[in-house]
Amino acid sequence: MISKNLEETQQIALDFVRNLQPKENEATVIGLYGDLGAGKTSFTQGLSKALGILETVVSPTFVIEKIYELTNQQFTHLIHIDAYRLEKSEELLHLGWKEIISDPKNLIAVEWPERVVDIMPEHIKIMLKALENADFREIEVVS
Ligand SMILES: Nc1ncnc2c1ncn2[C@@H]1O[C@H](COP(=O)(O)OP(=O)(O)OP(=O)(O)O)[C@@H](O)[C@H]1O
Ligand SMILES: [Mg+2]
Repeated sequence: MISKNLEETQQIALDFVRNLQPKENEATVIGLYGDLGAGKTSFTQGLSKALGILETVVSPTFVIEKIYELTNQQFTHLIHIDAYRLEKSEELLHLGWKEIISDPKNLIAVEWPERVVDIMPEHIKIMLKALENADFREIEVVS
């Protein structure tokens, strides 16, 4: 898909999450792949709006992980992780990663999954890529 602006990226995220079915035995994990500024956080903002989160989702770069409680949704939590500043995957393990990924009620969005590739479970890959035109982004979903 081609997104022409921020709003379109958020709309693509919204359409994506509307079609998402929770798994039976484990969390649903989304890996957001793309360079700095590609739109990974923007995509997560689209997810959060679609899931009824009112507070503004900001980049969790400095906190690594943010957990949003959901009401009246098929998932009970949206967990937003930014692995950019992690030096080792163990840091994520210390945040209870194993428990988090084992709960089917969790929807987990991970920016920079490449940084924690060794502990990423099977996940849906969202590839974001900036195109020549400053605001255009190519967005590909690989399940
Ligand atoms: N089509 C588009 N989709 C998404 N963002 C866009 C688009 N066009 C312009 N932008 C702008 O690009 C920026 C994307 O920033 P965002 O924080 O989402 O990127 P990111 O991939 O999370 O970067 P980082 O790796 O630093 O976390 C925002 O300032 C946004 O307004
Ligand atoms: Mg980001």
